[in-house]
Amino acid sequence: MTYSFKKAAVAMAASCALLLAACGGNEEEKSGSGSEDKKVLNVGTEATFAPFEFMDKGEVSGFDVDLLNAAAEEAGYQVNIQNTGWDSMLAGLQSGQLDIGMSGITITDERKETYDFSIPYFESVTMIAFKEGTDIASADDLKGKKVGVQNATTGQFAAESIIGKNDSSISKYETAALMFQALQSGDVEAVVTDIAVAVEYAKSNPDADVETITDKQFVPEYYGIAFPKGSEYKAEFDEALNTLYENGTYEEIYEKWFEESPDMETLKQ
Ligand code: ARG
Repeated sequence: MTYSFKKAAVAMAASCALLLAACGGNEEEKSGSGSEDKKVLNVGTEATFAPFEFMDKGEVSGFDVDLLNAAAEEAGYQVNIQNTGWDSMLAGLQSGQLDIGMSGITITDERKETYDFSIPYFESVTMIAFKEGTDIASADDLKGKKVGVQNATTGQFAAESIIGKNDSSISKYETAALMFQALQSGDVEAVVTDIAVAVEYAKSNPDADVETITDKQFVPEYYGIAFPKGSEYKAEFDEALNTLYENGTYEEIYEKWFEESPDMETLKQ
């Protein structure tokens, strides 16, 4: 810090009036537990993607939130996670208005040209969800069907690789929630999304009669924390993630959300 002790004391007295719990320290104790002097990083997400991120009583909650909070804590930052939506998140990362994108974002070669990614933190694969009774037994059965995807996601890319790009039978939705709504209302016959999200949707909507399948042609993908290209934070968050992998925190968070243990080997690439 460059400002004088006097200024600091004035500022501290001012914030003491507001935040009793944060007071009592002097400047030398800056590296202690007080969170009020940690740099706040702006994080964007699309919070209709349970169990990774979803709104719960006005707050963004989920596996990604817990993991990012733990990593930020480890790296010495505070995070301000905003439900920006998917497209705005990507734009915010490109313009540098956001420091971090945490949204079940798959690391792809194409995206790596525009963003930096942390080391992988979750293995996923594409899944097709449809109403029971729809004649879908493999990915190729999507041909000739009305298919819903979330715009600009790997689900869209997977659907396009089967049905063809610019095919009017693919409807693109801004959020994962709108995509699932379209399945519910019958606007589309199938949706293409990420495995844990499809499974969570089927589980938490038992009356929706949703079936899910994956297909050998879908290859594993890995989620990463996204940063603007050249971000100074990537290295620190990589180190923080590695610490969480080693000290058991990652496993704890994983077990909380998935009720099973993670396969740590898939993350140690
Ligand atoms: N993993 C997919 C992708 O990166 C979908 C992510 C969608 N995330 C969300 N929060 N809606 O394209």
